[in-house]
Amino acid sequence: MENHLLEVKGIDVLYGDVQAVWDVSIHVEEEKIVALVGANGAGKTTLLKTISGITPAKKGEILFQGNSIAKLKPQEVVDIGISHVPEGRRLFSSLTVLENLKLGAYPSRARPLMANSLERAFSLFPLLKNRKDQKAGSLSGGEQQMLAIGRALMAHPVLLMLDEPSLGLSPIFVRTIFELISTLNAQKITILLVEQNINQALKIAHQAYVLKTGKIAMNGSGDELLADPEVQRAYIGKRWSKS
Ligand SMILES: Nc1ncnc2c1ncn2[C@@H]1O[C@H](COP(=O)(O)OP(=O)(O)O)[C@@H](O)[C@H]1O
Ligand SMILES: [Mg+2]
Repeated sequence: MENHLLEVKGIDVLYGDVQAVWDVSIHVEEEKIVALVGANGAGKTTLLKTISGITPAKKGEILFQGNSIAKLKPQEVVDIGISHVPEGRRLFSSLTVLENLKLGAYPSRARPLMANSLERAFSLFPLLKNRKDQKAGSLSGGEQQMLAIGRALMAHPVLLMLDEPSLGLSPIFVRTIFELISTLNAQKITILLVEQNINQALKIAHQAYVLKTGKIAMNGSGDELLADPEVQRAYIGKRWSKS
């Protein structure tokens, strides 16, 4: 039987009168990589923010390990094991790398594990170890993305949600980020990945959803969607290759 770690059931999300997400249902199985892809403005970030408790749903249900989490505050969502690396990273740029990492360990569950967690972060990201006393704002875009992921890992998430982790990075860092996602998944962290690099995202995803103007337009395995002529035409063809 499928083992659903996260189930989003029929959610509507509105900003004032404007509806951004329409009756969306997705499920994320334990220890898998699930990709959420689609054009700009499709509602991907909104969906992650809703799961995180930042933008509550107007209708629908969200279950994590079988429990309803739709009414939890953002910090409570982190406490139960869901970490979110937001679009644009949101680091504390005037704090050092080390200080940013330590802030990630604020859930009570994670605090006693801090020393081990730091070791894990530095072994995943040796670059950060060399720069641990440097201000986060002085890092390159790729290094900042690694720090943002490292900070999220400090909370020991069961589910890691990544919003556009490869956006704006040089090709070498894009490759590093996708390899890292597979490495983390091999360490049994479940991943919900939002990406505009649809080709790469579908290649590593076990399961994927295509969001279109706030609704699920398609879903299937990463391979199925990669092979789908409609996905190829709309999202992977020449028109998209430069974006
Ligand atoms: N804070 C906000 N206030 C009002 N509308 C918003 C806000 N954030 C996003 N939207 C709108 O919601 C829709 C979905 O946006 P978003 O979730 O950011 O899409 P994506 O991440 O797929 O690009 C868009 O039409 C966007 O303009
Ligand atoms: Mg977005």
